[in-house]
Amino acid sequence: MDLDLDAHLTAAGAAVADAANLDALAAVDAELLGKRSVLATVRSQLGGMEPDQRKVVGRRVHEVRTEVERLIAERRSVLAAGARAVVLEAERLDLTEFDRGRRLGHRHVVTQTWERLEDLFVGMGYTVSEGPEIEDEWHNFGALNFPLGHPARDMYDTLYVEYGEPQSTLLRTHTSPVQIRVMEDQEPPIYSIMPGRVFRSDTADATHMPVFHQIEGLVIDRDITFGDLAGTLEAFTTAYFGAGFTSRLRPSYFPFTEPSAEFDIRRPDGSWLELGGCGMVHPNVLRSCGLDPEEWSGFAFGFGLDRLALMRHGIDDLRELFRNDHRFLGQF
Ligand code: DAH
Repeated sequence: MDLDLDAHLTAAGAAVADAANLDALAAVDAELLGKRSVLATVRSQLGGMEPDQRKVVGRRVHEVRTEVERLIAERRSVLAAGARAVVLEAERLDLTEFDRGRRLGHRHVVTQTWERLEDLFVGMGYTVSEGPEIEDEWHNFGALNFPLGHPARDMYDTLYVEYGEPQSTLLRTHTSPVQIRVMEDQEPPIYSIMPGRVFRSDTADATHMPVFHQIEGLVIDRDITFGDLAGTLEAFTTAYFGAGFTSRLRPSYFPFTEPSAEFDIRRPDGSWLELGGCGMVHPNVLRSCGLDPEEWSGFAFGFGLDRLALMRHGIDDLRELFRNDHRFLGQF
């Protein structure tokens, strides 16, 4: 019996070593340690043995079984490591495989428009200024000559922030508050543009979004006239859209400019498109910023940046700009 078990252990060791994968090893495991294995059979015969023999054989069965279990466990960990390596290799993501030149992203069409506008005005001698998206009531309205309770405040569906006194803090509804900040911070002469994100409580549709972009322009200097404003907007129109485009101004109303105008551009096909507002900076606005209206004068303008992007690229739904489907954005 002892001899049989030694031979069995040798054969078992060979079978375990031969198992080529985890499935094969599971089969070998069942064969060597299962109910119908040699070891189970010998163990079932122990009861019929003499006590001395039972003791010797019993101990040997236990030793062989322990050794077979050890060999199987050892083989299993080797095979499992190999299997994991195969999976890792199959699932490996080699980022260097991508063709960098082709896969590299590009700027969003709104960012492209934003940067083009900056380039254009910087080329005309303007600086670029920024202000906060969360504003106080004074900069967004008060300093811009909208007194408290003034009906013109209703032109904007303002989103207020729960901070401080009710309605004292808001998401800026336009980029005009940056004009105030620029005049507070800098001595004239000022020639600056202020692109940025603005917010209104609007429902998204083809021409409205609750978050959109505007660009503001501000010039403060001595002896600035309405003619300077018209000339600047005309120069901008041709530079941005091309030689066939011109602009016109229509009388309008904004609390922070006097006189105020609406600014339209004329396409080569003769159609007109409303772009934004403009006017001569109101004396009250200059005073709010500590400037003497007798000494300084200026003009301001503001228009929608997203709109410009739509127009330039013939896109007919504003929402496309924010959906971020790269199959769409990739065209521009
Ligand atoms: N802030 C105005 C708006 O959002 C646009 C505007 C009109 C800006 C006239 C100006 C301006 O600077 O002079 O509707």
